[in-house]
Amino acid sequence: MEVIIRPDNGEAVELAARVIAKELREKPTLVLGLATGNTMEPLYARLAQMHKKEKLDFSLCRTFNLDEYVGLAETHKNSYRRYMNEHLFSKINIDIRNTHLPHGISDDHDSDCEKYEDEIEECGGIDLQLLSIGKSGHIGFNEPLSAFFSRTRVKALTPMTIAQNSPLFDRPEEMPKRAITMGVGTILEAKRIVTLVVGGAKAEILAKAVEGPVTSMVSASALQLHQKCIVITDEKAAANLQGRDYYRWIFENEPEWEEFR
Ligand code: GLP
Repeated sequence: MEVIIRPDNGEAVELAARVIAKELREKPTLVLGLATGNTMEPLYARLAQMHKKEKLDFSLCRTFNLDEYVGLAETHKNSYRRYMNEHLFSKINIDIRNTHLPHGISDDHDSDCEKYEDEIEECGGIDLQLLSIGKSGHIGFNEPLSAFFSRTRVKALTPMTIAQNSPLFDRPEEMPKRAITMGVGTILEAKRIVTLVVGGAKAEILAKAVEGPVTSMVSASALQLHQKCIVITDEKAAANLQGRDYYRWIFENEPEWEEFR
């Protein structure tokens, strides 16, 4: 794992966008794993701007989102399909048929989840998975005690996650209590992982995920096991990290980051 600390949210987003853009330019058929949430909004806005101003081309790119709420139709205001359409897909030149999210409404979630895994495999696996970390330590909706070998499945949400996300619903009590999410095992199979974590509210959980013990009580700690995972963060979210000075030194001195400095 590599931790990169940028001065603020804007610069953290800028770095994440440039890392993604570089991968996409090198491999136009990139299979991109996508996340939702507040953290991703400025990043998607920046990618949309890069499409417009720098002709960043998504026409051959395939995407798989991490998760979707059980029971929400694609058209529901709070569905992640709707979020993705609004924040990214409608603003770039992606073929909507190349975008995949789990289905919130289904007669058979288990077989849908298996199909989702098959589709990822048929595309050759995820090249670059984008993540953030929820306050419960979740990646996707892998709540505490999610098995590190888990695959796409339905997961019950913790009270902490419900408290974090329900204010986004017109009537908070309508927030679904379950979600379909890629498993920790699915996520760990991505060839590269870029995790973006910003803001003081994430300082405590980020320190646990990055420097704490690897434990299924903090799903994001599983990222310590991945061979090619970078965590891009800002000073506020990095406040509790013991190794802050070392991480800063790496970004300022390691040749692989030169073009991004
Ligand atoms: C959400 C999503 C995650 C996301 C996380 C952080 O509920 N299921 O994929 O990364 O929680 O959200 P935010 O960026 O709003 O803090």
